[in-house]
Amino acid sequence: MNATLQGLISNAERAWSERQHDGKTHVTVVVDTSSLARGARETLAALQSAAANPANDMVVHITGSWGFCWMEPCVTVRSAAGTRSVLYHDITADLVPELVERCVTNGGDWPEMALGIVEGTATADIPLLSDHPFMQGQVRRLMKNTGTTDPESIDDYLAQGGYSGLLRALELTDEEIIKEMLDSGVGGRGGANFPVGRKWDFLRTATAAPKYLVCNADEGDPGAWVNRTLLEGDPHLIIEGLAIAARASGAREAYVYIRYEYPLAITRMQNAVEQAKAKGILGENILGLGWDFDVVIFKGAGSYVCGDETGLINSIDGFRGMPRIKPPFPAQAGLWNKPTNVNNVESYANAPLILREGAAWWCNVNPGEQPEKGTKMFCLSGQIVNAGCTFEIPFGSSTMREALERYGGGMLPGKELKGYQPGGPLSGVLPASEINNAMQLAPFRERGMFLGGGGIVFFDNGESILDLVMWMTGFCEDESCGRCTTCHGGNQRAVEVLRRIAMGGGRENDIDKLEGIVKTLVWSNCQHGQLSPTAIKLMLKYFRGELESLIHHKVDPTRSLPGFIEYRVRSQSDPDLESAVAICPTVAIVQDGQQQWMVDQRLCILCGACKEVAPSAMEVVDRFAPVPVGAIAAGGG
Ligand SMILES: Cc1cc2nc3c(=O)[nH]c(=O)nc-3n(C[C@H](O)[C@H](O)[C@H](O)COP(=O)(O)O)c2cc1C
Repeated sequence: MNATLQGLISNAERAWSERQHDGKTHVTVVVDTSSLARGARETLAALQSAAANPANDMVVHITGSWGFCWMEPCVTVRSAAGTRSVLYHDITADLVPELVERCVTNGGDWPEMALGIVEGTATADIPLLSDHPFMQGQVRRLMKNTGTTDPESIDDYLAQGGYSGLLRALELTDEEIIKEMLDSGVGGRGGANFPVGRKWDFLRTATAAPKYLVCNADEGDPGAWVNRTLLEGDPHLIIEGLAIAARASGAREAYVYIRYEYPLAITRMQNAVEQAKAKGILGENILGLGWDFDVVIFKGAGSYVCGDETGLINSIDGFRGMPRIKPPFPAQAGLWNKPTNVNNVESYANAPLILREGAAWWCNVNPGEQPEKGTKMFCLSGQIVNAGCTFEIPFGSSTMREALERYGGGMLPGKELKGYQPGGPLSGVLPASEINNAMQLAPFRERGMFLGGGGIVFFDNGESILDLVMWMTGFCEDESCGRCTTCHGGNQRAVEVLRRIAMGGGRENDIDKLEGIVKTLVWSNCQHGQLSPTAIKLMLKYFRGELESLIHHKVDPTRSLPGFIEYRVRSQSDPDLESAVAICPTVAIVQDGQQQWMVDQRLCILCGACKEVAPSAMEVVDRFAPVPVGAIAAGGG
């Protein structure tokens, strides 16, 4: 047992325990990107100024996300007696004085704003947090500290058993560490579920030196932020995972590649590295063991293909962010052509749990033979009640329907599910009829797409499938590195065809054309190009009726595609018509010879501003002649 590390853990545990009984009220605010967007900075400032008043005898802390991102800022108040803590939601700065008065000065609760009791017994007004519907079915292991500890404090992490996975790894040989990882069955969380232990073994047995680790924190899929939740909420968990991987593989240096759009994650990871170095857990002669290992935080420049492991390696190497041709694989020739292991954030973050608690414990949440083991984090967005929620469940324990209803809170009132997109823009949209799929890899692979890293977006019937696919294909076109014509030219051509259909110019042979483009794009050099036609492929399979209606009948059942509609003046006497005329940016609402207001369709740019300010004066009509109802197929193939 390494006495230095054991000493650090024991000291931190003692300090934490003393803090729990110091007779002060402890108020903890979630400070992460989601809560900051909803005013957490101002809430924190208001709490800090309340704490400056000695009469309040309170201490203010920050923490990571509980996953209730749609109800931020979330604040926990722990009583001065240390017997009870309550989690509150939507505590904006203006509510801080009332929170302080009720919960700090008077030492009571605020039931109307409470989400649940974190510590202590339930009351008639406030149930236990563990009984909250959002917490049902969750097994929070990766998220154990997010919501409770300060992500900017290594001592908070140590006090919760942090770095004791590394402590155990120091007792094991490299092969024993890898065996523990293999026994757990943990697979890569970037989407492919490739055994993490096998990857580490490739690096361990590589003969060239030096060897490198890379943590893929690019998380480029729109609608995905599970990695950000860990980077911002528990950075030491990732650093500990990297240190364990380094012990197992012989790597001397790790690069954490974080996307430019995650500034708080970059700051928190950088801070965590410095703290770990200050404690002697990273750097030279770690813990007096004569072992050197360093972690470098590397800021990406916002390119999607740099999420691909070889694009990422190229980017760190200082070249343009272009995926490389494989083989050679990174384990043979990665960073600076040396052996390199690339894993996702969540993959590394599981290692401390596996080493600390053992492989058997880690996979005890997954009965049966399913290939996905352990827990998995997901986040949901789109037209749902709890847009922005983040949760952790045993991998494979839920269907998409259960996740939508239990964690997402269901579709927004009045909205009907049309489909959902797992796996980001390289995946595609599945129709509502596929909502009973288990959240495992196989159902999605069987449908020619993938589950991905954990971000899922739900769409309602007001969305045009063509609009969604046009957006996804446009994203793939923009993000193409430009190296192979198949990808950049193919996606460009696909967008042209989709855009023409969306403007009402669909032609009889467009479906054949799209099928041809799909067949061609799969021959692109890298996975970005190869997977970019997935959204079109799935539209042709699952939403063909809607596409045919757009091409052949010129009818958009969603009435959302600008090319299929016209704005017209509905009521000459409506009092709001004046506002519509005034707001039109192209002065398209004009008077004809009879002084009647009308929309000059040559000038109208279909921005919809007139309808927004004058909903009853203006109307939206189909641009093309209607066809018999039976000929229109909305959704479904
Ligand atoms: C275009 C593209 C983007 C990708 N983006 C990410 C990403 O943001 N995060 C990630 O972990 N993997 C991403 N991947 C997958 C990585 O190439 C790689 O497989 C993964 O980081 C391996 O880690 P794992 O084995 O732990 O899953 C992407 C792949 C492609 C083709």
